[in-house]
Amino acid sequence: MPQHFGDYQHEIYAGGLRGELPGLPVAAADLEARAEAALPPSVWSYVAGGAGDEHTQRANVAAFARWGLMPRMMVGAAHRDLSVELFGRTLPSPLLMAPIGVLGICAQDGHGDLATARAAARTGVPMIASTLSADPMEAVAAQYGDTPGLFQLYTPADRDLAESFVRRAEAAGFQGIVVTLDTWTVGWRPRDLTTANFPQLRGHCLANYTSDPVFRSRLRKPPEEDPAAAVAHYASVFGNPLTWDDLPWLRSLTELPLILKGLCHPEDVRRARDGGVDGIYCSNHGGRQANGGLPALDALPGVVAAAGGLPVLFDSGVRTGTDVIKALALGATAVAVGRPYAYGLALGGADGVVHVLRSLLAEADLLMAVDGYPTLDSLGPEALVRL
Ligand code: FNR
Repeated sequence: MPQHFGDYQHEIYAGGLRGELPGLPVAAADLEARAEAALPPSVWSYVAGGAGDEHTQRANVAAFARWGLMPRMMVGAAHRDLSVELFGRTLPSPLLMAPIGVLGICAQDGHGDLATARAAARTGVPMIASTLSADPMEAVAAQYGDTPGLFQLYTPADRDLAESFVRRAEAAGFQGIVVTLDTWTVGWRPRDLTTANFPQLRGHCLANYTSDPVFRSRLRKPPEEDPAAAVAHYASVFGNPLTWDDLPWLRSLTELPLILKGLCHPEDVRRARDGGVDGIYCSNHGGRQANGGLPALDALPGVVAAAGGLPVLFDSGVRTGTDVIKALALGATAVAVGRPYAYGLALGGADGVVHVLRSLLAEADLLMAVDGYPTLDSLGPEALVRL
């Protein structure tokens, strides 16, 4: 029996009858405002900020408002099924958590990756664990419970280190490798530049590196004894300006599903597909990397068409359950939420993430109920009207 995610609203209204109000914000704008007040200014700037004047980041969000869902009546959508097949597994919903590299420092106890992983276990929403984490990937994966997780790889220039990360992810039980292509160097981010603050260069969220045998073998002294040298080595190996010639090597690294993140151009999607990847991840990194680009949502239909049936993951600008539904209608197989769950984490740890995920799923489910789309199959581009 599919889950009725919309029932979350009954819990909230029932609480009201006992005089209880939700402890965490329900509206996306409130969530953001409360997180800004709760986070240290440098962490807030890093999480909320983006590239350039942040036009692309705003455009990502605004793009959803240019589509309207056409309501259908007398469908009797009393039961909705949001479950989806992804890489051979059935997931209760098409919602994922996008990789976020500073979750560790978003949480008040400094272990936000672990809290997020516990939220994944509690909700069934898979977490894509970033290479940049405050706790090693093995510790993160150990919190997943029965929920599958994916590992996001920032491919280091040191190929042995890249391979070591992948081997560790396999051994830790991750179910797929998401290679992010758009961040081999960091985009121009005025908010962070203004405060000359880049968390990783201050030694934050490098646990996967400092715990790695290959990484450690490259250092003269262990990171515990000479943290500055470890950070300097991290900075020297972090980015690898991959070309399509590197795809066979990436593919050879693992038999796990391989997903390329950051694809927006149909020709790139075709090259990825021809190179044997298992999934396409359409994203512009939430406008954090390049400004002046198109909203990721506007790239999605072309990506889906070029993917030729491969699963398409999508993120960038998802703020509500309605946004999730619109991305699915435009052809995404699964939709990842980014910043909002980091805000939930900042406000309430694992409970905060669970609240954000349940709210998104409830809204998506209730939209399908009210507008008469009982299954994801019933939700295609014809359900949308361009405004
Ligand atoms: C990210 N993102 C990201 N992506 C990735 O592949 N690896 C990473 O480590 C990170 N780190 C990261 C940190 C922070 C603070 C943010 C906000 C984002 C990008 C992320 O996966 C996703 O593409 C965006 O968050 C989507 O944009 P919105 O919806 O959050 O605006």
